[in-house]
Amino acid sequence: MKIAIAGGTGTVGAHIVRAGQDAGHEVLVLSRSSGVDVLTGAGLDPALRGVDAVIDVTNLTSLSAAKARDFFTTGTRHLLDAEHRAGVGHHVALSIVGIDGIDASYYAGKLAQERAVADGPVPFTIARAAQFHEFAGQLLASTPGPFALIPKAPVRPVAAREVGAHLIRVAEAGPRQRAADLVGPRDEILADLARRQLAADGIRRRVLEVRLPGTYGRGLASGALRGGPDAVKGTITFDDWLASEDHSQHA
Ligand SMILES: NC(=O)c1ccc[n+]([C@@H]2O[C@H](COP(=O)([O-])OP(=O)(O)OC[C@H]3O[C@@H](n4cnc5c(N)ncnc54)[C@H](OP(=O)(O)O)[C@@H]3O)[C@@H](O)[C@H]2O)c1
Repeated sequence: MKIAIAGGTGTVGAHIVRAGQDAGHEVLVLSRSSGVDVLTGAGLDPALRGVDAVIDVTNLTSLSAAKARDFFTTGTRHLLDAEHRAGVGHHVALSIVGIDGIDASYYAGKLAQERAVADGPVPFTIARAAQFHEFAGQLLASTPGPFALIPKAPVRPVAAREVGAHLIRVAEAGPRQRAADLVGPRDEILADLARRQLAADGIRRRVLEVRLPGTYGRGLASGALRGGPDAVKGTITFDDWLASEDHSQHA
C-alpha cells in the first residue's frame, strides 16, 4: 500500500513511518517540513496522488479548547477534502482513550476532530490510544524550571512504538469507523512517571502533582484515561521503555 503519514516527523509519526516501511509499504510523510501544511492545505493535492490510506497524527501543543478545536477541525477538513479529490480510500485518525465527557482544553480539539472525521467524505477509522510513555517527558519539557507541575492523572501509558505498529495494522485492515482502544500494560500515575524519568536521566527537579480545576482536571483525575476492559494492551512497560533506545535517543 501507499500510506501517507500526516505528522510523520513527530513522536508517534516517526514510529509509524518505520513500522510501515518494515511492513513493506510505500510510506510518505506530510508535514510542514516536507512542504505540506494541513492548516492551509498547501501541498496536499500533489502529495496525495496515488495514496491508498492517510494516517493523521498531526498535533499542536495547547491547552486552549478554542485553539485545539480550530487546529484539529481545520486540519482534518483540509486533509479529508484533498483525500476525497485524490480518491484516497481510508483515513485513519489517532485520538485518545477515555476522553468522552472531557470536552474541554486539548481534548475538546480531539473530540471535534473525531466528529469532523465521522462527518467527512472519506471512509475512516478512528483509533484511540492511551498516553504515550513519551508523554511525561513532553510535559516535563513544557514546564521548565526547578519545579515541574504535573496534573493528577491515573494513566495506562503505552509505547509510541507500539502505537505506530498498531496504526499500520489499522490502515491495512481498511475502514471500520472505530478500532479497538490501545493502552499500555500497567496502571501508572502520571507524576510518578515524571519522577522516574527524571531519576533515570539524572536530572534534579522536583515534581509537584497538581489537581487541575474544571472539566479537564476532573476528567484527568477520574481515571477515565485508563480506558475500559475491552482495550488491547501493549507489552512494553514504562520502565522497559525508559531503559530502551527509544528513550535514550531523545533524553
Ligand atoms: N502524546 C500522547 O501521549 C498521545 C496519546 C494518544 C494520542 N495522541 C495523539 O497523537 C498525535 C500525535 O502526537 P505526537 O505527540 O506524536 O505529536 P508531535 O510529536 O507534536 O508531532 C506533531 C506532528 O505534526 C506535524 N504538524 C504540526 N502542525 C502541522 C501542520 N500545520 N501541517 C502539517 N503537519 C503539522 C509536525 O511536523 P512539522 O512541525 O514538520 O509540521 C509533527 O510531525 C496527536 O494527534 C495526539 O492527539 C498523543
